[in-house]
Amino acid sequence: MTISIVTLPGDGIGPEVAIQAVHVLQSVADKLGLQNLSIKECLVGGAAIDQLGVPLPEETLKACSEADAIFLGAVGGPKWKDVDVKIRPEQGLLDLRKSLGLFANLRPVTAHASLSSLTPFKIDHLSGLDIMVVRELTGGLYFGKRGRDKNEAYDTCIYTVPEIERIARLAGKLAASRNQNVTSVDKANVLDTSRLWRETVERIFKNEFPDIVLDHIYVDAAAMYLISRPETFDVILTENMFGDILSDEASMLAGSLGLLPSASLGDNGPGLFEPIHGSAPDIAGKGIANPCGAILSIAMMFRHTLNKPEVAKAIEQAVTKTLGSGVLTADLTDVNNAVSTEEFGAAVINAINL
Ligand code: NAD
Ligand code: IPM
Ligand code: MN
Repeated sequence: MTISIVTLPGDGIGPEVAIQAVHVLQSVADKLGLQNLSIKECLVGGAAIDQLGVPLPEETLKACSEADAIFLGAVGGPKWKDVDVKIRPEQGLLDLRKSLGLFANLRPVTAHASLSSLTPFKIDHLSGLDIMVVRELTGGLYFGKRGRDKNEAYDTCIYTVPEIERIARLAGKLAASRNQNVTSVDKANVLDTSRLWRETVERIFKNEFPDIVLDHIYVDAAAMYLISRPETFDVILTENMFGDILSDEASMLAGSLGLLPSASLGDNGPGLFEPIHGSAPDIAGKGIANPCGAILSIAMMFRHTLNKPEVAKAIEQAVTKTLGSGVLTADLTDVNNAVSTEEFGAAVINAINL
């Protein structure tokens, strides 16, 4: 049976990190003798707008829905900032997530011992740090009705009970296989959607995960606790917008936004694996982007969709070893000592032990 992977390099540094991720995927497939792996590249985002006038062409969506797994680099950039909102590059990514029912976005945050001195955090907050941000991905402000005229604009935040229940269950199951601790983050002191979120999460955990320790905290305090006591978090469960913001913040615990991967999963069908960062227009085209988040997203693909956790581990260990040996891109070291995106990718491939 063929394993079919669709890659969507996208825009800016997207293609630069995607090619390293694909090299890792191909190298692992060669090492394992997986001759049945097919990799097909499709257009998304600004690249698709430029060629076909829309950010998520029909053929891309079709290929993605028929694939076993999808990898995406990044979308967006200043070139497309003034296009109609309905066909912005970012809308292509949102439509892809929604069309494939990818309601759960897993964003693991781990600290690499070798990088802790490069972060502003004290070592005792980082050693053993292992947080899983579970971000609801197909609801909330991102998908509610929005509109604007000259002097007014609005975005609506809607959550339904089933949407909250399914993400809460997923977080509960994950916590059961980790440190039995879930922190649900909301703004229940102000928002009705957050009050519904809190009540629903509370009920699901009471009835279905009585052994998991569940806390609720407000998002403003959560932003602060992530800095003051990050080591106390295990699974952070939160809605779409809060998860977007908190995970970029949390990336600094690891050392750089370029380090974090993610997996976007639904009940069935293909998963979408993407670094959490964007197209980084400020460094695009220079060959200096950090491909770790992209490469680690391939590890997540092996763990969550391709059912090969040992391969995921081997890729993750190779990244840790590479970073530990001082091979660092420019976001993590001074320019004179930095390696290129390509050199980093090659070093990881060399370090994979399978
Ligand atoms: P960004 O994540 O692209 O960049 C923020 C900062 O982090 C920049 O200084 C950038 O140079 C740095 N950075 C990001 N990834 C890096 C990497 N791999 N290596 C080294 N440095 C890295 O966020 P932004 O500048 O706010 O957004 C730029 C564009 O990307 C926008 O159009 C935005 O909508 C889009 N975006 C897309 C995604 C996605 O495709 N999943 C995610 C976030 C932002
Ligand atoms: C991310 C990005 C996207 C989001 C944008 C580009 C739509 O910031 O994947 O984190 O907000 O989900
Ligand atoms: Mn984001």
